[in-house]
Formats: sequence, structure tokens, C-alpha cells
Amino acid sequence: MQEKELLIVTGASGGFGKAISKYFASLAAKEKSLYPILCCRNKDKVKELRDFISPIGLSCDDYAIFLTDFSSSALVDDLAYRIKSLNLPIRALVNNAGSMFASYQTNDEGIEMNMAVNFYGPARLSEMLADNMVQAAAIVNVVSLSRKYTDIETDFLKGNDKSYSRISAYSKSKLALSIFTTDMAERYPDIYVNGVDPGIMNTKMIKMDKWFDKLVDYLFRPFTLEPAQSLDAIQTAYQNNDKLKGYIFTRKKHYPMEDKIAKHPLKQLIQTTVCSSIK
Ligand SMILES: NC(=O)c1ccc[n+]([C@@H]2O[C@H](COP(=O)([O-])OP(=O)(O)OC[C@H]3O[C@@H](n4cnc5c(N)ncnc54)[C@H](OP(=O)(O)O)[C@@H]3O)[C@@H](O)[C@H]2O)c1
Repeated sequence: MQEKELLIVTGASGGFGKAISKYFASLAAKEKSLYPILCCRNKDKVKELRDFISPIGLSCDDYAIFLTDFSSSALVDDLAYRIKSLNLPIRALVNNAGSMFASYQTNDEGIEMNMAVNFYGPARLSEMLADNMVQAAAIVNVVSLSRKYTDIETDFLKGNDKSYSRISAYSKSKLALSIFTTDMAERYPDIYVNGVDPGIMNTKMIKMDKWFDKLVDYLFRPFTLEPAQSLDAIQTAYQNNDKLKGYIFTRKKHYPMEDKIAKHPLKQLIQTTVCSSIK
């Protein structure tokens, strides 16, 4: 078999994830050496995802769907080992899976759930797979504009059950992922590690399960982007013609990660938090 290079996307069954999956499938349809791995949480969504990308014309042998849940380090590790066991080099990893939790919750390790799913899991997966990446491979972390309007303290992994707010906890997790993006970009000179800020997209993510959802649907949702519109940011970050690292890519432009984030005082702590428990 011709040696394949992997294109991995997480959160593949979500609004943005489906658009990214279709993009990776279209690349693999053109270039037979590429092999998409679409990572989902829910096995009931696998058929829907297969149907969504089927117009591209790949057969089931031309890509794989792997299941995982980013709220559990053990499951993230299983995913990493499963990918490593393929013994195939990685061309791209898009850390797109993300969530926003209505109330304070922690996982088995005591990590606040926004932090677990949006920061710790993706950071851990990236670190575990870094050795399997080809030269000039892309790690693309889907972050959010909200990274700019928050800050984190040394106990950031635990969060705060007393003063919990979903937007604040979500923003902190995206800030942590953004800081880690710049840290990895510096530590891995042969890999391009960048962030994507997709803008406000019309997906499940902006549903709050509150009485005002209907109002939001009526007044706000029409002005949001369809996930396919934000795909440009992923495409430019993946192609990365200018060989940029530690940048933020949006639909229309790209720029270095804000200094406040790139030089964050907790950068070393964040690195240690992720790397110290990886065997
Ligand atoms: N929508 C926006 O306006 C917006 C703005 C800025 C950034 N983003 C970011 O864009 C990314 C994609 O979000 P989206 O807008 O496409 O929302 P979405 O439709 O809710 O998709 C989120 C995806 O992440 C998956 N996911 C959630 N929790 C997970 C877990 N514990 N383990 C594994 N997978 C999990 C979901 O799986 P299921 O399909 O099983 O639910 C889904 O596939 C996220 O990182 C989000 O933070 C979104």
C-alpha cells in the first residue's frame, strides 16, 4: 500500500467539524496519499457524518472514523495510541472539538469540564502526536475571540464552582489553548502550530438552552456565519503558504497571537501541566 499521510479532525460530527471533514475528504479525493481520520464523540452520529461527506465520493476504505471523548484523559490517550499504532505520518491535526457547559462540572481528574474538553484534551493529543508529524505538518487549534477578554490564574484547571459562568469558563479554556498554541509553536520548529478564530457560527455551540434561545434564533442567528463560510480560515492555516507559527487565522486575515497571550506569565505552567503526565 502506498504510504498515507493522516489528516485528523476532532469534533467531526459538529457544525464546523462536518465542514472540515468534508474539506479533508475533498483533499483525499484529489490526493490519494492523504487519509482523513474523523474523530467523533457519539457513535450515533457516525452515519450522519458518512452521509454528509459521501458526495465527495470517498469509499469507506479511504478514511476512518474514530470515537473518543475529550473529557477523559484516558480516552484521549487511547485515541492517540490508536492513531500512533497506524504507523503513518501525520500531515495535519485540527483540534476542533469543543463544548460549553451550563453548570460547573469536573471530570474524574478534578479538571473543570470546559478546561478538560477545550484545552487539556486537545493539548494532550497534540503533544502525544507531535513525534508522528511530518516536517511542516499543521496543528490547527480552533480557539475563539473570547480568548482576548479573560485571564487565568494558577489554579485554572479546577475553575471556580462558586462564581461559575459558562461564557467565562469557556473563554478561559480557549485562552489556555491559545497560550499552549504559542508554546508548542516555539518548542516544535518543524511543525506549524497555529490557532483559528472562526467567528460566530450558526451551530449548536451558540444554543444556550435558555428561554431567550428563540429570541436569539430570531434576532441574532441570521447574522451568524454558516460553518462553511469559516472554512477559509482552516484552509489558509492548513496550507500555510507563508510558513507561519503561533498565528491566529480568521476568515479574512491572519496575525501573530496577541502579545498578552504569547507572553503570558503562566505559559510555562501550562506546558508543564500538559507534558508532565504524558508517558
Ligand atoms: N459556533 C461558534 O460561534 C464558535 C465560535 C468560536 C469558536 N468555536 C469553536 O469551534 C469549534 C466547533 O464548534 P461548533 O461551533 O461546530 O459547535 P458544535 O456544532 O457544537 O460542535 C462541537 C463538536 O465538538 C464535539 N464535542 C463536544 N464535546 C466533546 C467531547 N467531550 N469529546 C469529544 N468531542 C466533543 C461535539 O460532539 P457531538 O457532535 O457529539 O456533540 C461536536 O462534534 C469548537 O471548538 C468551538 O469552541 C465556535
